[in-house]
Amino acid sequence: MKFKAVLLLLLASSLTVNAQKDKKKSQIKPRKEFISELMAKMTIDEKIGQLVQFTADGTITGPVSGDNYIEQIKKGNVGSILNATTVKYTAELQKMNLENSRLKIPLLFGYDVIHGYRTIFPITLGESASWDLKAVELSAKIAAAEAAAGGVHWTFAPMVDIARDPRWGRVSEGAGEDTYLGSKLAFARVRGFQGTDLSLNNTILACTKHFAAYGAAEAGRDYNTVDMSERVLRETYLPPFKATVDAGVRTFMTSFNEISGVPATGNKFLVNGILKDEWKFDGFVVTDYTGMNEMIPHGFAKDEKHAGELALNAGVDMDMVGGIYMKQLKKSLSEGKVTEAQINDACRRILEAKYDLGLFEDPYRYNDAKREKEVIYKKEYLDAALDVANKSLVLLKNSNNVLPLKKEQKVAFVGPLVSDEFNIIGSWAASGDRNGFAVSVEEGVNKIITDKSKISFAKGVEIVDAKRDMIQNAINNAKNADVIVAVMGEFENMSGEAASRTNIDLPGIQKEFLAELKKLGKPIILVLLNGRPLTLEWEDKNMDAILEAWWPGTRGGDAIAQTLYGINNPSGKLPMTFPRNVGQIPIYYNHKNTGRPYLGTADNEQKYKSRYIDVDNSPLYEFGYGLSYTKFSYSNFKVSSNQINFSQKLKATVEIANTGNYDGEEVVQLYIHDKVGSVTRPVKELKGFQKIFLKKGEKKTVEFEISAEDLKFYGIDMQFAAEPGDFEVFVGGTSATTMKLEFELVK
Ligand code: GLC
Repeated sequence: MKFKAVLLLLLASSLTVNAQKDKKKSQIKPRKEFISELMAKMTIDEKIGQLVQFTADGTITGPVSGDNYIEQIKKGNVGSILNATTVKYTAELQKMNLENSRLKIPLLFGYDVIHGYRTIFPITLGESASWDLKAVELSAKIAAAEAAAGGVHWTFAPMVDIARDPRWGRVSEGAGEDTYLGSKLAFARVRGFQGTDLSLNNTILACTKHFAAYGAAEAGRDYNTVDMSERVLRETYLPPFKATVDAGVRTFMTSFNEISGVPATGNKFLVNGILKDEWKFDGFVVTDYTGMNEMIPHGFAKDEKHAGELALNAGVDMDMVGGIYMKQLKKSLSEGKVTEAQINDACRRILEAKYDLGLFEDPYRYNDAKREKEVIYKKEYLDAALDVANKSLVLLKNSNNVLPLKKEQKVAFVGPLVSDEFNIIGSWAASGDRNGFAVSVEEGVNKIITDKSKISFAKGVEIVDAKRDMIQNAINNAKNADVIVAVMGEFENMSGEAASRTNIDLPGIQKEFLAELKKLGKPIILVLLNGRPLTLEWEDKNMDAILEAWWPGTRGGDAIAQTLYGINNPSGKLPMTFPRNVGQIPIYYNHKNTGRPYLGTADNEQKYKSRYIDVDNSPLYEFGYGLSYTKFSYSNFKVSSNQINFSQKLKATVEIANTGNYDGEEVVQLYIHDKVGSVTRPVKELKGFQKIFLKKGEKKTVEFEISAEDLKFYGIDMQFAAEPGDFEVFVGGTSATTMKLEFELVK
């Protein structure tokens, strides 16, 4: 494990060193001077042109607008293009722009590089299950290096939307339900994409999205209404966005949804108020895809011109695909509905980003065909994708240690995804290859098991289609095996954008097929390939082991095979709760206690409790949960004092021993509970975690520090502050830990 960690560190640092060789001494004037002089020459049409983004036709990521982007580029009306990639294509469009524009302001190329550009890493929800900030940063760093080599200047990532509803397909793109974990991961991703120097030609602009609270869409239905108190907005949903501002993110994207009646794209309180004034954000803000136009169906804008005025007055700098700023802004200016100062500010922010990328010095600095060939699919990138995938898998069940498999066992691999190399890279997989380059489970197993008589592969059923004509063949294979491994799940497009589901069971007749297999009386291991938590109560009862693999990316089949055969010991922990059924949603660990808390089965005789009468009220698998092939035991949990004041720090220490038979990693988690506040507080809040490696038999002491800073919240007066009082502090390998001590915060 250590050797691999060293390799990854070397890879991370080499990404910076290589780029330094390409860094030219700046030949142009300092930014402020350069941009002031440029803007002094620009007409109002040219300034508005910088605020306009159109989509090329490389990928379609939304309702396509009628405007022909080539024609608009030729008119010099465009500041940015999205969905154009490769050195060749972006160079072509850049040339067209430079040859047809008076002031030769370079185009900015944006693209959804969410979890990889060509080398695809696990979907973000999967990466988040690694709880490994270094791995997540490296993943983004590699994505940026490949995208930059492919002509891309700007990624529309990280997506940092906190989400507590797995019916919402876009949970696949985020970091799950927790604000603290989400904030740490958001910071790491921005640092990965942007590095600390945008002038290096293997770093790209990041874009924090979707601002804001898009993950709180009512009923998990995409684009649906969001309505919440300012306290919940600020305390639960905004911190990951703020974390990216602290990380130096250069762009933001407004979300499609309204928040308490005001669409984000026209939300002055949110964009100008919180982002630009309160947080001093100095980058630029782009709408989501035609998000500006959608304020008309929202019933917030009466027409496109009004929508443009609302957006610019709210602080939105660039119009993604809507065509409104291009067509309407000049008229709005002449009517005094917007000011030239607003247009100048938006234009300056965008020009500054282009300047910092080095595009004015060399508009083609991301267009090096030789570098494109050398960088993309580098072996060390593909190996890093395997390592991150291995870290993201979550072992949910392992009865009688049926895992890891032994090479001498006869194993029947079945299920609709057993040989899949198309879906395995998940949704939002940028320019990832879906035609055979990604490693399927079958391919990964074949690399490990040389005696082919030990393994068989048969789909049995489809993902959704209820065809039964392949079942018998799969059953026959399984009859001759010692162990059955069922590789099942969703289609990749059953999560991601516009992919909400009211039923989050395994689709189709997959569960029926498992029941057939169960009749054979052999151990069954269920491997899940999916983009969201699923409802697995029957599977949890009837499967001997369950491995959550999410969409593990280009090397996904290798990671799954290496984990099944014990080459990798799974260390992932759930970033999002798995409910028992859809009726429990929303269900999350950091909930409020209510005045009639249900304290588990002991309370079953008590009628008047906050619970459902028809289900076990606990989640099926809780936030922070994940098993290992080894065992970790916690002891000697101590705090340095039972009291701290507002300037002191409390030290919490705990000893963890690897008491099992495998080396492994454990995510040691620290939670607090503020027992009484001027407003009610969650029963638990994650405030720290450390992922540690322990050889079998090894033990380590882990230390956390807690200060009043960690205990702040928005009190009754909406001031962000800690309040004196009694606290509980918990440590453990899951949010369900009961290992608890107490301390008091005193004035
Ligand atoms: C899509 C998505 C957004 C993406 C954008 C550009 O509609 O909402 O996440 O970055 O359009 O593709």
